[in-house]
Amino acid sequence: MNKIIFDTDIGIDDAFALLLAYKTQNILGITTVFGNTNINQVTNNAVLFSKKFDIDVPIYKGCSNSLVYNNSFDDSINIHGNNGLGDIFNDYVNYVAYDALEFIIDSINDNPHEIILVALGPLTNIATVIKKCPELVSKIKFLIIMGGAFGTDGCFGNITCNSEFNVWSDPHAAQLIFLSKLPIVVVPLDVTHKIVITEDDLLSLNNNFLIDLSRCYMSFYRNKKFFDGMVLHDPIVISYLIEDKWFDVKDVYVEVLTDSLYRGSTLMYDKKYDFHNILHHNDSLLRKVCLNLDVVNVKSNLLSILKI
Ligand code: RIB
Ligand code: CA
Repeated sequence: MNKIIFDTDIGIDDAFALLLAYKTQNILGITTVFGNTNINQVTNNAVLFSKKFDIDVPIYKGCSNSLVYNNSFDDSINIHGNNGLGDIFNDYVNYVAYDALEFIIDSINDNPHEIILVALGPLTNIATVIKKCPELVSKIKFLIIMGGAFGTDGCFGNITCNSEFNVWSDPHAAQLIFLSKLPIVVVPLDVTHKIVITEDDLLSLNNNFLIDLSRCYMSFYRNKKFFDGMVLHDPIVISYLIEDKWFDVKDVYVEVLTDSLYRGSTLMYDKKYDFHNILHHNDSLLRKVCLNLDVVNVKSNLLSILKI
């Protein structure tokens, strides 16, 4: 089993990803980051969800704000509910969550070349760790992120027409990561959009809690995207860790734009078209970007593992 650190802004899709990861990976710790809601609520939601499903993994509290921008955005249409996780938890727990950055740094030093960082929210925690301790880059097995959108399916973003939410939330963190020599696997909207979980798929899990958890997310897709079902972005990252043969991957350079209307846009550049060697990039900056997947196997595997 892969040793992973599960970095999350635990929205509804993160929660499904956490269940899938707990059943298939060795999760050393869960680190929270702002994103789908504020850091205190994210951490509270992670504690309550873990307790509900007896997920026996320590939870560490991470960054509350992006590197440069403040996080204010109109979350009146928060697709993950007012509390960021389907509005099914009402209580607030007094959980002493220690510092996520320290946990990540210590874990990588204690397990050199063994840990996969799984980032399912803004990349602020990961970027801050690399800024503080650049020498850790060579000790991380690889980073895999749910993030970005390259338009191969006609979609260049979901929070804006040009950018995907996790990258948009902290584009400077994403830019820092893609300028580093960290090995990175990118799972963008281009592939996550290919897996739609229908109402029948959800009912087939025989889990009323997950059905309740998903109600507001399903209604967002029905009312705003005009289709019956939901796209669970984050679990597809775990599907890659389960079986990367189900994914078509391209080795490309990735750049992140940080400002103006193109804040959070992700651009990929295929080395084989650099006829005049303009880029002078070295191969350590090539990233594995997933651009297609085996829909049948990824979806059936996801549903079979989550089914009670
Ligand atoms: O754009 C989708 C991503 O943003 C997912 O990780 C979702 O949970 C939100 O964090
Ligand atoms: Ca997420």
